[in-house]
Amino acid sequence: MKTQVAIIGGGPSGLLLAQLLHSRGIDSVVLERKTKDYVLGRIRAGVLEQGLVRLMEEAGCAERLHAEGIAHDGTLVSYGDEMFRVNFTEHTGTPVIVYGQTEVTRDLYEAREKAGGKIEFNVESVVIHDADSDAPHLTYAVDGEARRLDCDFVAGCDGFHGVSRQAIPLDVRREYEKVYPFGWLGILSETPPVNHELIYANSPRGFALCSMRNENLSRYYIQCSLSDKPEDWTDEAFWQELKRRIPPDQADKLVTGPSIEKSIAPLRSFVTEPMRWGRLFLCGDAAHIVPPTGAKGLNTAASDVHYLYNGLREHYENASSEGLDAYSEKALARVWKAERFSWWFSSLMHRYPDQSEFDLKMQVAELEFLRANKAAQQAMAENYVGLPY
Ligand code: APR
Ligand code: PHB
Repeated sequence: MKTQVAIIGGGPSGLLLAQLLHSRGIDSVVLERKTKDYVLGRIRAGVLEQGLVRLMEEAGCAERLHAEGIAHDGTLVSYGDEMFRVNFTEHTGTPVIVYGQTEVTRDLYEAREKAGGKIEFNVESVVIHDADSDAPHLTYAVDGEARRLDCDFVAGCDGFHGVSRQAIPLDVRREYEKVYPFGWLGILSETPPVNHELIYANSPRGFALCSMRNENLSRYYIQCSLSDKPEDWTDEAFWQELKRRIPPDQADKLVTGPSIEKSIAPLRSFVTEPMRWGRLFLCGDAAHIVPPTGAKGLNTAASDVHYLYNGLREHYENASSEGLDAYSEKALARVWKAERFSWWFSSLMHRYPDQSEFDLKMQVAELEFLRANKAAQQAMAENYVGLPY
């Protein structure tokens, strides 16, 4: 089989790229190792930057997002019994949109199917050949049948555990990583959110986050030990701990209920450089990971897709390699700013096992500065709603 762009990974990065390319008549094939149901079964964050909203509009997939997405003009930040609001719209003129990333992926699958997009599921043993030549190709298997896909370019959208990053030679690749000494225990419950906006809480017992998917589907997280397992926590134990970490007036109005999903996610900052090797381009989690504190995972994948899509368009429409040649540098420039914001917000809001009394004083001083200083709130708001592409 032959295509113009071979895309490894049928998550949001791969699907968004495929749909955008399709909108310009550029052919692609998506190779996904799982089933569609498995991909859609993943519970992910739910805060979208305007840049991603615009890309979904450009891809012709934003109808449900506009109908069901909830605009949030700000967020609440609490520390101890104190709480203040950072107003995104006042500082930046733009809100964020709360809409499950699983729904983004669902909308993209629906659009690809409607457009007759080529997606192969249950793909195994993907190998990238001759990425640093003018004629790369992939080999892989489906149901034990060996297959080959010849292409002009390969987009590695296969996430942190994919094969694409490994295709870049070790003597070329530079990796940067920070592993956090805690995880996030998250639950989904069919209950009304405790507040109409998110609450990020720094409490002496650890971080907590109150989020949502819609007016009757809430998403809550508490910082937990890396040795914890979801089954160690009953629903009741979770609710009691969450109530201890958010301000009392919020805890008093928290509506609890049975969890319909419960999982623990580790926190990691990770970047690989470069994000290109010959005709292989890494996108999204294949190239970088952020702690979920700043909700930057999908939103940074979106800017990667934007740069790569426009670089490929220039190649096919104007016979120019300018965009592709600038891809890695441009994508990384924004990736590192998202890494910094996610690291900063994680450092500010979590309790670390080795924190000294001085460290705790620094957290409170930073929170009080953020609470009182317009420039500090402006900086946080600009990063949270998304820096320019
Ligand atoms: N062959 C084919 N597919 C693969 C392979 C492989 N060897 N390895 C991984 N995949 C698939 C996975 O099954 C997954 O569906 O690649 C996809 C990668 O999707 P994500 O991990 O969601 O990464 P990405 O699309 O970059 O999404 C970025 O979106 O879901 C949010 O916050 C989340 O940070 C994440 C962001
Ligand atoms: C979520 O709703 O899952 C969510 C929201 C904001 C974050 C992280 C996760 O920073």
